[in-house]
Amino acid sequence: MISNRKSEHLNICNNEDVSFKNKTTGFNDIELLHKALPEINKEEIDISTSAFGKKLDSPLFFTAITGGHPEAKKLNKILALAAEEKNIGLGLGSQRAAIEHPELNETYTVAREYAPNALLLGNIGAPQIDLAEDAVKMFDADILAVHLNPLQESIQPEGDLNSEGFLDSISKITDLVDVPVMVKETGCGLSSEDASLLENAGVNYIDVEGAGGTSWAAVETFRAKDKYLGELFWDWGIPTAVSTFEVVNTVNVPVISSGGIRSGLDAAKAIALGADSVGMALPALKNAYYGLENLINLINQFNESLKIAMFLVGAKNLDELKNSSLIIKGETKEWLEQRGFNTKIYARRN
Ligand code: FNR
Repeated sequence: MISNRKSEHLNICNNEDVSFKNKTTGFNDIELLHKALPEINKEEIDISTSAFGKKLDSPLFFTAITGGHPEAKKLNKILALAAEEKNIGLGLGSQRAAIEHPELNETYTVAREYAPNALLLGNIGAPQIDLAEDAVKMFDADILAVHLNPLQESIQPEGDLNSEGFLDSISKITDLVDVPVMVKETGCGLSSEDASLLENAGVNYIDVEGAGGTSWAAVETFRAKDKYLGELFWDWGIPTAVSTFEVVNTVNVPVISSGGIRSGLDAAKAIALGADSVGMALPALKNAYYGLENLINLINQFNESLKIAMFLVGAKNLDELKNSSLIIKGETKEWLEQRGFNTKIYARRN
């Protein structure tokens, strides 16, 4: 059952327009301050970073995408080969189906086979305490991601709408496993308040997965017979730029900015806001379908556009990028000011 659903999700994501319709990530409202005198050599720009002891060549993660159905094995092999070659982080999809049906394990273990050194993230849902240890063991995950998807559950016909006790469950998962635990949304973003609750629950890493990229209400609308709810909630959520601002200005744990990140320029803005790294899901899936070369090309273009943005603001490394000046305009500014944040804190930093 879960396996069929995942296969349907992949086909929908690959063949239909599942992006937000009228809401954007808000990165268009973020302007990095141009430097006519960057005074640095572009060839010496360093975009390497580290996460939980592993050095990464780029602050890019492919966030949770797939696994748990036969088609996923080939995709995860290509994603893993790319993650290993370009030394980036790779999140695999929800492992529940494979834990319940061990014959599907190889759709995940294939990732470790072809990415023996890469940073790999396991993935379970918040209430699945009993799956946590097996999920980590399945392919020797470096980090366990725990996903939150209340909107998707609301729209999908077989959705589970009782989320009581999730925070307690997340806290227990952090005690249970011996790897860091990351909590991620799935395209509706996290607020400052949610981020505080998660940090207090002992979470080691937060991935905002905000609105403006792939809409999971859209994905479920394509599956649903009755499309009323899906169409109504298609654009629900906190835009990624807003969510990133709120979370980085609230917690002390590292933050991934994601949900609609489509280039190194988006990434530069997210990192200048204070994110440690960024995540991308749908573009990775689409390129993986066309093969390894396409996926490597996606990463190369991402890295190059990030370096050009860094050159234009005079940042030699990601720490300097984090201290660059930026302007917050439009709806993003309006949103943040209504929420009581000072949007001018980034405007004149160096
Ligand atoms: C996802 N996503 C996801 N997230 C998760 O935590 N567990 C999962 O199993 C999946 N499965 C999944 C399948 C497919 C086909 C896609 C495209 C995405 C959600 C994903 O990690 C991300 O949060 C959203 O897709 C938003 O990011 P993008 O696509 O706008 O970059």
